[in-house]
Amino acid sequence: EDDLFAKLPLKHKKFLITAGPTYEAIDPVRFIGNHSSGKMGYEIAKTALQLGAEVVLISGPTSMALEHENLKIIQVNTAQEMLREAENYFDEVDVFIAAAAVADYRPASVASEKIKKADTHLTIELVKNPDILATLGKRKKDQIVIGFALETENGVENARKKLEAKNLDFIVLNSLKDKGAGFKKDTNKISIIYPGSIKEFDLKSKTEVAADIINELIPLLNA
Ligand code: CTP
Ligand code: CA
Repeated sequence: EDDLFAKLPLKHKKFLITAGPTYEAIDPVRFIGNHSSGKMGYEIAKTALQLGAEVVLISGPTSMALEHENLKIIQVNTAQEMLREAENYFDEVDVFIAAAAVADYRPASVASEKIKKADTHLTIELVKNPDILATLGKRKKDQIVIGFALETENGVENARKKLEAKNLDFIVLNSLKDKGAGFKKDTNKISIIYPGSIKEFDLKSKTEVAADIINELIPLLNA
């Protein structure tokens, strides 16, 4: 019986995970979005479920599918919707992992009718979206809170700033230097950054990366 339990190290643990892009409406038929596939967040959810966790996955628009008796998927479109849902569940979870590629800005207003083509230039005013991870990081009590950082320059330095500013336990830096890594790819090259240390990982499938991330947080949960 000890053995069986050891195979489910996340039994009775609750995870909240955000995944995918957000779509921010411009008018009834157009939006601002990004190329996030959602794969990283879904792979983390899958691994956590396999290890016995209960998972709430808040997903932006993706083509991913996942079903499990201990999984609740909440589909959202916008950053504001994603924040509202994440706030609803945050207090009751043990771990929050922000894997979503949230749009930093949204149109200041949504046109009620389809915008007609007119001048040679069109300006759309944008306003800043709420930072879901920073909002919940500041609210954390006993939760483990983990974020991602996507950087094209000064990766470690910028990721460390996010780690501190968002009050995270660790941050997963996605290296874009590797051709096989990132959006739309099935592989990632990550570093896991703690306030005082850093661990480098090889280029791996997102399934293996998810296992590395879960492996890293299990000791924190039991500490
Ligand atoms: N994040 C979030 N809500 C936002 C923006 C980002 O929850 N409105 C989360 C992401 O899910 C990720 C982390 O914050 O886990 C870092 O996202 P990233 O885009 O790398 O950093 P930003 O803080 O948005 O800063 P910038 O885009 O300027 O580098
Ligand atoms: Ca951003």
